[in-house]
Amino acid sequence: MNQSEFVRPFIFAMLAAIMPGAAAIAADDLGDYRIEAATVSKHLMEDLSAELVREMKAGGPPAAIGVCTEAAPRIAGELSREHGWKVTRVGTRVRNPLLGMPDAWEQEVLAQFAARIGAGEAIADVDHAEIVSESDGRYFRYMRAIGVRDPCLVCHGPDAGIPAAVKAMLSEKYPHDEARGYRAGDLRGAVSIKRPLKD
Ligand code: HEC
Repeated sequence: MNQSEFVRPFIFAMLAAIMPGAAAIAADDLGDYRIEAATVSKHLMEDLSAELVREMKAGGPPAAIGVCTEAAPRIAGELSREHGWKVTRVGTRVRNPLLGMPDAWEQEVLAQFAARIGAGEAIADVDHAEIVSESDGRYFRYMRAIGVRDPCLVCHGPDAGIPAAVKAMLSEKYPHDEARGYRAGDLRGAVSIKRPLKD
């Protein structure tokens, strides 16, 4: 037996001991889920960025509002059906509480993301995967950080930089809007993915 054959089972035993929830699902499965979840969330963010740039060029900020109101839930819904997972976007501060509000686990992970970014980690690299036991079963859960970039600021930046027409539209549709005042490089939220596990 070479050294790695000896060490590997030992590492798995250690992991099972420190992560009791993970013991029932094979380590390979968890790795696969994580890779798939990372791919799905990058796909969502890239599609949204591309739509945003296209709409901003075609019709300016008022047209681009549709990217966050319609395209984001539509693409997330398509990905959910395609993969059989729940794919959503949540915010650190929320514009639409019905869709964008993080649950308790998501809030905790967002707080960890903020701390990691504060400690110097690049937003693009920040993600988290975990097996979570909830009252109705066990889930594979995954989040990937969404950063604020310059094109986001027309609708999520400081009030002074938001065009009057956009401000009026936002105030009318989102009276409880908290998703303003961000700056480029801030953590805006995360893509969140939830997949039920069969025990
Ligand atoms: C043209 C305006 C506009 C631009 C530009 C824009 N957003 Fe939004 N964003 C919105 C609106 C409107 C909502 C609320 C959508 C809804 O009703 O669910 C929203 C919601 C969100 C949410 C969901 C959480 C919440 O607060 O409800 C995230 C995350 C988000 N935006 C991220 C971004 C990022 C990242 C960018 C830049 C890449 C961006 N947005 C650019 C208008 C915009």
